[in-house]
Amino acid sequence: MGNIVLTGFMGSGKTVVAKQLARLLGMKVIDVDTEIEKSTKMTINTIFEHFGEPRFREIETETIKQVSENNNVIISTGGGAVLKQENIDAMRKKGIIICLTAAPETILKRTKSTRDRPLLLVENPLERIKELLESRRPFYEKADVMIDTERKTPLQIAEEIVEKIKE
Ligand code: S3P
Repeated sequence: MGNIVLTGFMGSGKTVVAKQLARLLGMKVIDVDTEIEKSTKMTINTIFEHFGEPRFREIETETIKQVSENNNVIISTGGGAVLKQENIDAMRKKGIIICLTAAPETILKRTKSTRDRPLLLVENPLERIKELLESRRPFYEKADVMIDTERKTPLQIAEEIVEKIKE
């Protein structure tokens, strides 16, 4: 099997769904943000704070290109990975791109307990989520498969992905 690449907004469930998929399919998970934190020895917050978002995006692209060379792995990406066409091209070379979706209110609920997402550290995160979702919608829609995660468990979502891949 080729790679399975999970995309989607922050809090759409990529990390938890990747774990379930890995269990179901016996595949390894590579998390792009974790790889970035390992290679730079910095947290995502620190990279944004000290070097800015444009530098983060450069490191993200380098990392996506590297991890996309693997075979038979699940790749969990950051919510902004779809914003550059070269990232999408790299991810698609050996994989199918699955986008997880959720409503803004659900995303707020899933992200509000942590402070590790620099783009959501604003006074009104719900407004920010709505704006970003709207402006990014055409990029997320470039995925091969879109999966709605509302009212589903990570296991149900993973099973739905397995079904879609078989088709
Ligand atoms: C980002 C999403 C984050 C992380 C960074 C930027 C984004 O990943 O890459 O904070 O632009 O949507 P998650 O989607 O895993 O939270």
